[in-house]
Amino acid sequence: MGNRGNLYAVMGNPIEHSLSPYIHPLFAAQCNRSIEYEKICVALDGFPAAATSFFARPRARGLNITVPFKQQAYRLCALLSTRAQQAGAVNTIYHQSEDLYGDNTDGAGLVRDIEQNLCWEIDNKNIVVLGAGGAVRGILPALLEKSEVKIKVLNRTLEKALDLKKQFPEIEVAPLVGADGSITQPIDLLINGTSAFLNAEAFVLPQMIFNPNALAYDLIYSAQNTPFMEWAKLKGATAVSDGLGMLVEQAAESFALWESFHPETASVIEAMRKKLTTA
Ligand code: ATR
Repeated sequence: MGNRGNLYAVMGNPIEHSLSPYIHPLFAAQCNRSIEYEKICVALDGFPAAATSFFARPRARGLNITVPFKQQAYRLCALLSTRAQQAGAVNTIYHQSEDLYGDNTDGAGLVRDIEQNLCWEIDNKNIVVLGAGGAVRGILPALLEKSEVKIKVLNRTLEKALDLKKQFPEIEVAPLVGADGSITQPIDLLINGTSAFLNAEAFVLPQMIFNPNALAYDLIYSAQNTPFMEWAKLKGATAVSDGLGMLVEQAAESFALWESFHPETASVIEAMRKKLTTA
């Protein structure tokens, strides 16, 4: 039997539409390695057992974790990177001297997509983030590493935003509804980290003014412009983006941790865009 290479998987629920099983083999091909990458739909109460039994398999090297298990993955890992500790969430796991090591590459993926792919500088900018859930926790450490950024988090439930401020005292927080008065400065970068635009028409957005060259970035991705992107264009955002580039970039960061090779991403983003739009 031939060597099928290191084994990886993504765990989530649902997982059917995950692009990770297409992304990682493209990375592996760039360094002439063969890997196997599975997608595993895990029962909502079955994550720790599923992760443990995955790593009991001889070729298992790493896992990507997606919704809704990132916080559980954080609790499962004995060792954690600083950024995973700050985020309270893990999207990348690997074995390290018999223990499970948890990291979070989401923030680095976002920053890389904005700066390298969209050629948009984050330093010195006025940033507003919508939402205070797991997705936002994951990106804040990387955004706060940039110099001289002002970050305001708006959330429907103010208590959750206040909780976030305990973890990240540098941020300002405000309620989403009725926040009009609290957006005192024009926005350079608006990030949608809510799941609201996916399924709710009841979403109430504050009036916001964008600076020239403002970017509106949606953490979710889709074949067409997302409703958030359309909304932001109407409100005057110069550039809009979905989160497909972030998805590929966070995957690249994971791959680099596992295989010590940082892949080229532009061709992979292009391939995934094509896959999405022709699906
Ligand atoms: P994720 O891990 O994807 O971030 P989450 O932790 O459930 O998911 O967070 C979802 C985010 O979307 C939260 O900020 C949530 O606001 P609340 O904290 O008030 O629940 C936000 N959200 C979901 N539906 C919304 C809606 N209809 N209007 C405004 N915000 C909404």
